[in-house]
Amino acid sequence: MTLDDKNQNDILNSELMEQNDIEFIFSDKPINRFKTKPILEDKDSQLLNLRDEIANISNCELKNSATNLVFSDGNANSKIMIVGEGPGQKEDEMGKPFVGDAGLLLNKMLKAINIDRESIYITNVVNFRPPNNRKPEPAEINRYSEYLRKHISIINPKILILMGSTAMESLFGTKIKISKERGNWKEVIINNQTYLTMITFHPAYLLRQPDQKKYSWADLKQIRKKIDELKIRL
Ligand code: URA
Repeated sequence: MTLDDKNQNDILNSELMEQNDIEFIFSDKPINRFKTKPILEDKDSQLLNLRDEIANISNCELKNSATNLVFSDGNANSKIMIVGEGPGQKEDEMGKPFVGDAGLLLNKMLKAINIDRESIYITNVVNFRPPNNRKPEPAEINRYSEYLRKHISIINPKILILMGSTAMESLFGTKIKISKERGNWKEVIINNQTYLTMITFHPAYLLRQPDQKKYSWADLKQIRKKIDELKIRL
């Protein structure tokens, strides 16, 4: 548009406004009709960037001894996000979380409340297998907690399920005990966003202590109830 055209347009606009006693003018800016696609792409690229950031972690014993980075599995647009502890041998081999014995039990636990594993999003506190499947050290939990918080912000779940004491400690610190905290809805604030959170036992713990499964079942039923109350579609 030339300056002349613009002047003509302004004159026309003010004449129209005077004639019709209106208080708005027509804008010649195009309307952005493509709002949803860039947001979706943005989530994917944020996840890729986070994955890269973790892949490039330096001076990390976990990374140095692991075969593969184990980032996540499932549906990144899910409203349900599960956090475990860290990859075991099978997960390290396959580069995918919860594919060993604990994973098989997790799948059954989810099925029991009518959830397909593929419809939710799964990750771990640490993304490389700790040597000999040891529990991650407090310093490692702390270091990876920064990535986990970013991960949660990107996925932005309506329900966050923390499985086991490592996942609990990563977001709530070490002063609380899982035996006391499991089964209660809690809130965790990450980047000014509040996430509804359920702490529950880790499936690997249930394999070692099957008598504790009754508590997990109670927690699972609460999770199902909340999914229905919040009308979350899976
Ligand atoms: N245990 C975990 O915490 N995560 C896995 O991915 C596998 C076993």
